Order: sequence, then structure tokens, then C-alpha cells
Amino acid sequence: MNRKYRKTVIAGNWKMNKTPSETKEFMTNFKAMMHTGRWCDIALCVPAVCIPAAVRAMRETRVGIGAENCNANASGAYTGEIATNMLVDAGCKYVIIGHSERRAMGETDADVNAKVLAALEAGLTPIMCCGESLEQREADITNEWIAMQIKLGLKGVPEDKIRKVVIAYEPIWAIGTGRTATPEQAQEVCEGIRAVVRKLYSSKNARAISILYGGSMNEKNAYELLAKPDIDGGLIGGASLVPEKFVQIIEAANQPTV
Ligand code: 13P
Repeated sequence: MNRKYRKTVIAGNWKMNKTPSETKEFMTNFKAMMHTGRWCDIALCVPAVCIPAAVRAMRETRVGIGAENCNANASGAYTGEIATNMLVDAGCKYVIIGHSERRAMGETDADVNAKVLAALEAGLTPIMCCGESLEQREADITNEWIAMQIKLGLKGVPEDKIRKVVIAYEPIWAIGTGRTATPEQAQEVCEGIRAVVRKLYSSKNARAISILYGGSMNEKNAYELLAKPDIDGGLIGGASLVPEKFVQIIEAANQPTV
């Protein structure tokens, strides 16, 4: 983290977990455990049907609610899809875009790019995900692969909007496996992502953008990961479903830093 230049963001990704009733219960417990005072930015990205309950529960707090996906089109014949202005109207502040689980369902870099542009246009903070497979890591093409995902995902994002984008580095082999990237591995890739943003935009913008790590981040390993200079927060799956664990990760993000 480097709080002097950029925001620290701790974001939960609930994936396909919890009903609206369970959301309400989680929020009650979570609120009771949260400390007051200065905190990093906190986001909880929840299933679409849980958004109203989450927004209602977190209205008076600093926790921003987000969606896990959006459609890039403004409206129309897209059965089952949700447009960015609908998310905004429902009270969302964030939207996860290009998660590897969605890419595995066929989402392309062009789709990711269109969604990032639509989210920015609507005033949402896109959390744009990238990450390599184990095969790609073993073939030693991680950096090139990630650089390509970042370039394609950010295509057409104007200079005055780039700081609004949050990037999440999630190595696919570390997601839900309990196999976390080492702080050094995660730092190396996050540093590389910042270098790509520097090339595409400017040093100032690269210094200001928040880059998160995701992949089996939990209350035990968060402190060490977040101590790295280019890891500005976390995108947390499993551990964000348990209020006690999520709160501990937020506390780890409040450690003194350089
Ligand atoms: P886990 O924390 O469960 O590994 O999931 C990470 C993730 O995919 C967050 O988007």
C-alpha cells in the first residue's frame, strides 16, 4: 500500500453466495463489528438480488455496495442482463468486471473493455480483473499476458477517468484454492500493472491508481500482502462471506505503511 498517493480498497466478492435474507443478517453482524474512525475504502460486491438489502443496510456507513457484473448496453433486448444505470439507481458504487469466472463463461477482453467504459460513463467504479492461469505462469508469460489484458481492458478510457478504475490482479490458480500467491509474486505483477498504466497514461496516473490482489486472501495472509508497496488492497472471495474474517482483513489494511 501507499496511502500517500492512492486509496486502499478492501472489496468483497460474494460470487453466487447468500440470499437477500442472509445478506441482511451478514450486514447486521458486520456493522456491529466495524470500528469507527478512519478506514480504507470498503466495498461489498453481492449478487444482483441482494443489492437492495445490502444498500439499505449500509446506507449510513462508509461501505459501498457493488455488483458482480453488468451489461455494456444502455437498455434493450438482453434478457437477464443488468445495465449500469440500473445498478446506479439501485445504489451501487462499484461493479466487478472481467472476473476470471466470467471470462471462463466466454467473456472476452472486448466485452470487458465495453463494460469498463459503460461503468465509467454511469459513474460507477469498475473493479477490472486480470490474471493468468497456472499454465501461463509455468510458461513464463504472466507479465505479457497481464499487460495485454490491461491494455485491451482500458482501451479508450480517457486520461481524466483512469484514476477512477480499480484494477484487481487475481491469478486464476490462487482463486478458491487456498493457494495464495506469495507477497513477492503478487507484488511483482502489481508493479508490472502499474508500469503498463504508466506507459499508457502517465507517472502521475500510475501512482494514483489502486491495484488490488485477489486469490485466497484471508485474515491470516492479508497483512503481509498489503505491506507490499504496489498492493493497494484486496478482492476477497470466501473470506468476505464471514464478517469476522472480513473485518480482520480491513484491520490489516489499516496497518502503518511507508
Ligand atoms: P477467494 O478469495 O475465494 O480465493 O476468491 C478470490 C476471488 O475470486 C475474488 O474475486
